[in-house]
Amino acid sequence: MHAFGATWETTPTSRAAGCVTVPGDKSISHRYAMLAALADGVSRICGYSHGLDCLATLACLRDLGASVERSPDEVVIRGRGMNGLVPPAAPLDARNSGTTMRLMTGILAGQSFRSVFTGDKSLSRRPMQRIIDPLGRMGARIESVDGHAPLTIHGQALRGIAYAPPTPSAQVKSSVLLAGLHARGSTSVLELVPTRDHTERAFEAFGITVRRGPEGVSVDGGQRVQPRDLDVPGDISGAAFWCALAAGTPGGDITVANVGLNPTRTGFLDILRRAGAAITIEPGASRGPEPAGSIRVRSDAFADFTIEPQEVPGVIDEIPALAAFAAMMPPGHRMTVRGAAELRVKESDRISALAAGFRALGSEVDEYEDGFTLTARPLRGNIGLTAHDDHRLAMAFIIAATRASGRVSIGEVAVGVSYPEFLETFASVVRPEAPPANAG
Ligand code: S3P
Repeated sequence: MHAFGATWETTPTSRAAGCVTVPGDKSISHRYAMLAALADGVSRICGYSHGLDCLATLACLRDLGASVERSPDEVVIRGRGMNGLVPPAAPLDARNSGTTMRLMTGILAGQSFRSVFTGDKSLSRRPMQRIIDPLGRMGARIESVDGHAPLTIHGQALRGIAYAPPTPSAQVKSSVLLAGLHARGSTSVLELVPTRDHTERAFEAFGITVRRGPEGVSVDGGQRVQPRDLDVPGDISGAAFWCALAAGTPGGDITVANVGLNPTRTGFLDILRRAGAAITIEPGASRGPEPAGSIRVRSDAFADFTIEPQEVPGVIDEIPALAAFAAMMPPGHRMTVRGAAELRVKESDRISALAAGFRALGSEVDEYEDGFTLTARPLRGNIGLTAHDDHRLAMAFIIAATRASGRVSIGEVAVGVSYPEFLETFASVVRPEAPPANAG
């Protein structure tokens, strides 16, 4: 059920209540594993994501010579030091994971060997020029197929640069900063709109000195990476689906425990609040640089809402969940997002795929090049739609379909990419609607 191409059939449900946990944060897991592989010694990462994307990162690190042991609770990585990675015997496979390919290309650009990076069909369609350009300015030599994977990375001596990415992207920022660890001099990235800062926090946690100031974030090359024992908090982007389900179901009340509360990721909670949900946040404890705690969301009022362009980088992964909530609002309510053209180059073209899926469910959707307006209408059942093997679309459609008038068949449900136990947790918080009294 977690695999690519799987089909899932939903039935309408009447309840959204309970206390849930979510898998380890995907973004943080990738970064901790990569830095642990560059560290001098053994790091233990507790709560590492077991989604397929983060497993792809571990497989690539193994192919580069790091020793990686995985148990249900933790991942233990014996790093090879800054200059100890070995040439991979075969192409590295990032599978569906853009973060794996973009961040690790930053690491590979400064090695003393050549490596080839491949990915699946979806990843091979996603833009890589955005990392090839700045890494090229640092002296990297990267061949691509018209700016797409497979990438051939000829490791080179790198020099530090100052870079301002034209499009806000934590992946581009992180790729450049990781390359900066192997570069001569200082490397800085200046963001016009801030993006998630997990790389900066992870650098500091692994003993790397980072400067953050008006000139952006800077790192000096030639630093050593210290091994660490760290906790990965729960993935707030996975939690967003439970928040949407609770907010959009009359009487809904869901608490997500031990979830990351990094302020560069909590923007969707502000938006859900504006849209009428009642939200309480309780800070908790976690080993490492990332704040964590619990989030309780209760359904309360409903208000039309707009996601402003400058908010988009902070909620880029939560827009599918917010769209699911919007589709569940009482008919006539409306959500608008603009300035979100980046959604077109995620695991799928999320603007056109969300529009098609929610239209099939009965919502009214106006699509723009850089966003959409979704107007809630009664959601219908006895239909089929596809999630395009995009994990976040699958979760969004499953949540919204709880309010449909009948069964909904959803194809290409690849939730395992970030959230392998999504369907089990879903079953624990919803209750199927009682069949009509005259049903056989
Ligand atoms: C990520 C950054 C975001 C996000 C992706 C993970 C990261 O991508 O959509 O799921 O871990 O840095 P961009 O930075 O390319 O927008």
